[in-house]
Amino acid sequence: MVRFSCKKLALWAATTSFLPCIYAATQSLPYEFDAVAITGGGYITGIIAHPTEANLLYTRTDIGSAYRWDQKFDKWIPLTDFISFVDSNLLGTESFALDPTDPNRLYLAQGRYLTSNNSAFFVSDDQGSSFEIYPAPFPLGSNELGRNNGERLAVNPFNTDELWIGTRTEGLWKSTDRAKSWTNVTSFPNAFANTIGIVSVIFDPRHEGTIYVSACVPNGIYVTHDGGTTWSSLPGQPQTWDDATLVTGEPALSTGPQPMKVALAANGMLYVTYADYPGPYGAQYGEVWKLNVSSEVWTNITPGRNNNSSPAPFTPQAWPPGGYCGLSLDAKDPETLVVITLDRDPGPALDSMYLTHDGGLTWKDVSHLSTPANDTATGYWGHPIREAALKDGRPVPWLSFDWSRLWGGYGAPSPVHGLAKFGWWMTAVQIDPFNPEHLLYGTGATIWATDELSLVDSNKAPTWYIQAQGIEETDILAAVSPTGGDAHLLSGIGDIMGMKHTNLNDPQPMFGLPTFSNLDSIDFGGQAPNVVARTGACGVNYTGGCAQAAYSTDGADTWTLFANCAPGVNWTVDTTGVLAVDASGKHVVWSTLFTYDATAGQTGPWATSDFGETWTAPSGGLDTQTPNLSADRVQPATFYSFTNGVWYVSVDGGVSYKASQGTKIGLPAAASGAVPVVNFARAGEIWLPLGDLGLYHSTDFGATWKALPGALSISFFTVGAPREADSTLPALFLWGTITPKGIDGLYRSDDDGETWVRVNDDEHQYGGPNLIVGDPRVYGRVFIGTAGRGIVVADLAGAHATTNVPGTGGV
Ligand SMILES: *[C@@H]1O[C@H](CO)[C@@H](O)[C@H](O)[C@H]1NC(C)=O
Ligand SMILES: *[C@@H]1O[C@H](CO)[C@@H](O)[C@H](O)[C@H]1NC(C)=O
Ligand SMILES: *[C@@H]1O[C@H](CO)[C@@H](O)[C@H](O)[C@H]1NC(C)=O
Ligand SMILES: *[C@@H]1O[C@H](CO)[C@@H](O)[C@H](O)[C@H]1NC(C)=O
Ligand SMILES: *[C@@H]1O[C@H](CO)[C@@H](O)[C@H](O)[C@H]1NC(C)=O
Ligand SMILES: *[C@@H]1O[C@H](CO)[C@@H](O)[C@H](O)[C@H]1NC(C)=O
Ligand SMILES: *[C@@H]1O[C@H](CO)[C@@H](O)[C@H](O)[C@H]1NC(C)=O
Ligand SMILES: *[C@@H]1O[C@H](CO)[C@@H](O)[C@H](O)[C@H]1NC(C)=O
Repeated sequence: MVRFSCKKLALWAATTSFLPCIYAATQSLPYEFDAVAITGGGYITGIIAHPTEANLLYTRTDIGSAYRWDQKFDKWIPLTDFISFVDSNLLGTESFALDPTDPNRLYLAQGRYLTSNNSAFFVSDDQGSSFEIYPAPFPLGSNELGRNNGERLAVNPFNTDELWIGTRTEGLWKSTDRAKSWTNVTSFPNAFANTIGIVSVIFDPRHEGTIYVSACVPNGIYVTHDGGTTWSSLPGQPQTWDDATLVTGEPALSTGPQPMKVALAANGMLYVTYADYPGPYGAQYGEVWKLNVSSEVWTNITPGRNNNSSPAPFTPQAWPPGGYCGLSLDAKDPETLVVITLDRDPGPALDSMYLTHDGGLTWKDVSHLSTPANDTATGYWGHPIREAALKDGRPVPWLSFDWSRLWGGYGAPSPVHGLAKFGWWMTAVQIDPFNPEHLLYGTGATIWATDELSLVDSNKAPTWYIQAQGIEETDILAAVSPTGGDAHLLSGIGDIMGMKHTNLNDPQPMFGLPTFSNLDSIDFGGQAPNVVARTGACGVNYTGGCAQAAYSTDGADTWTLFANCAPGVNWTVDTTGVLAVDASGKHVVWSTLFTYDATAGQTGPWATSDFGETWTAPSGGLDTQTPNLSADRVQPATFYSFTNGVWYVSVDGGVSYKASQGTKIGLPAAASGAVPVVNFARAGEIWLPLGDLGLYHSTDFGATWKALPGALSISFFTVGAPREADSTLPALFLWGTITPKGIDGLYRSDDDGETWVRVNDDEHQYGGPNLIVGDPRVYGRVFIGTAGRGIVVADLAGAHATTNVPGTGGV
């Protein structure tokens, strides 16, 4: 074995200043960072277009920040990947604003949760290529209720250094120095008592000093004509629900319509969508109104109200038909606009987009008209299930959500076989101001677009394509890079389950049934990499096996349900824990993460050697469920756990464990536990990343441990392919800090932790990872599973030839 030879040589070389060994220390090598192509994967909360520069579009997301459309590269460019781990709350865009007089200026209001004190304004003079960052004196909530509304942030077109923002909890605020400092507009009435607050600010570009500000409450729209000195409630707002539209036994959730989105057309019409709940979920009723701001006349233009748009089965409506939120005006024609329903789901009807050319007197149902002819009579609007593809035809297979009806859930296809839902949470919509044939709409998972919207006028179906390439906004919950097989990456993803990437550059299908809402844990057999097992919750009351765990023997192409779930797991359980597959692929241990109080008094982690026909509680040693569980990648039937300060080893497939108190084998007393990270090429070699206590290493199945040198503080640790092809010494990767510099980042060591070099730089931080995974087959490669920017693959420069667009990867 060559593994330590080079290090010895290095020591010798160092002392004699002679014959330096090229492997002596870890070399700093240039890296490139690409997104693994999933393409979307999360909720698009806003799309805006600059009024004077063609194709200058931005999109915002709830947990993945903001993107700029790049027409030349034909993809969205992520703008804020520099956000550090400690600033992860900033990786979400509550609102954004453009300067109508200067296409280079962009403002982002960043902050995910109201509970965080870390929110900020990102101010750019170069379309988001770089930013000045100013802390915000109030919390922002890009992933809170009501994130679908807006825009809260606006630039005063008469004085473009001035910005206003409607906050959730602190009223209306104004900045006169381009978002650097803010003052409370205390003249604004405190018209709200919820955490949604003020959802939109609209400057009238024709009348200096006129601003419309809306809170998400009934009667919530206010206007000032003197630049904010005095305010009045807009007279004539819809006050109560039209009882005739309410469904018996299903009361509206608000006393009257609450404004969601507001838009002012060039002809002085203020268009407003309403719902009874802030959204994006929970809305039951809605309306659409317009106000002639000079005559102060309000008109109810809710689609279907004049019975001109909705075919059966909408009349009469036997269920709450949902609210209205999405709204976009055609910049060239003040009488042309689209609106979209919200939460008209579950059916039989699904959400619809409506288009009008006469200011809302008549509407066409775009979703209905886009649905293949055979299915429209049923009222289940959608796209043909195999249609999800980019404009150039490259498929985005996972978007078919090709789940059987039983497995349902958000994102599930239209209940009519052969259709994918037209969308849900379609609250972001934009008619291209330079090309009204081009419309984009966001969903809970992606962006669809068409270039032929006017086909709807002649009752024809426009062709729709996916325009989300470059957007990666998933939350990664689990990932492995198998030692063999045709894929280097298997992932578990929040909301969209998980997938197998045989090609990192192209979107892939979702794993097949069983479908989980979140795939929480996935593992493979180290010497049998085609054996893969996964678990996650799915809420399906299924009797033909365990719907919460499945295994594959063909490298994650096809899946079989475990015969039975481990004791205590059933369809009502929403945390299914972790599982590990032994090196041979025969034994699986499932730690279900909740205490099982069976009459027998047994507890897990549960072991099976027949894919769940039978589950066995350990007969000795480990007797508690633990997330800190792994299998040896080389020696069969061998499992490890470091739990509550005790080191456990099983060599009989998890049927029994030998327990050793950590302090007796070289582990620090303060260490409570950690997921053992195992060498894929050598039995019994394990690392324990112990946070601030450093990194511990064993080569004898955990019988003895030594701390690796250096003052390391480790958030995540993994191992990858060795630098020397014939070595069993893997590359080590850690995310954390190394004293004395103490810079939080991703580091690599090629010499068993003697020396470390930084892999990422300050431009590539992604708000920090959820996990990191080395590739056992590609030296230098490490996957970064993020909490809102999908999966990033960090490769040695030149190794992963894709694209010259930084940060966007694949398609
Ligand atoms: C937020 O609060 C924490 C804890 O009080 C503090 O350490 C941190 O500096 C604060 N951050 C900001 C941006 O104010
Ligand atoms: C700002 O003013 C509003 C009244 O418009 C008030 O409710 C809020 O508490 C004020 N916030 C701060 C931080 O002063
Ligand atoms: C708004 O009302 C005024 C006064 O009645 C009228 O002159 C104007 O045409 C109306 N605007 C629109 C867009 O209908
Ligand atoms: C509304 O439309 C339905 C068909 O969708 C039709 O049966 C009904 O008569 C219409 N009602 C009115 C008042 O036009
Ligand atoms: C409608 O469905 C029937 C039965 O599946 C099929 O024979 C027919 O070709 C379909 N028509 C269209 C227009 O798709
Ligand atoms: C779950 O399925 C079982 C077996 O089909 C059935 O007896 C039970 O009523 C179902 N429970 C619920 C809550 O649907
Ligand atoms: C499902 O599992 C939970 C947790 O173990 C248990 O409390 C519950 O009784 C189980 N329900 C059924 C229907 O088995
Ligand atoms: C598992 O490891 C984590 C550290 O990753 C530790 O905080 C936790 O206490 C451990 N859990 C158990 C049950 O040992």
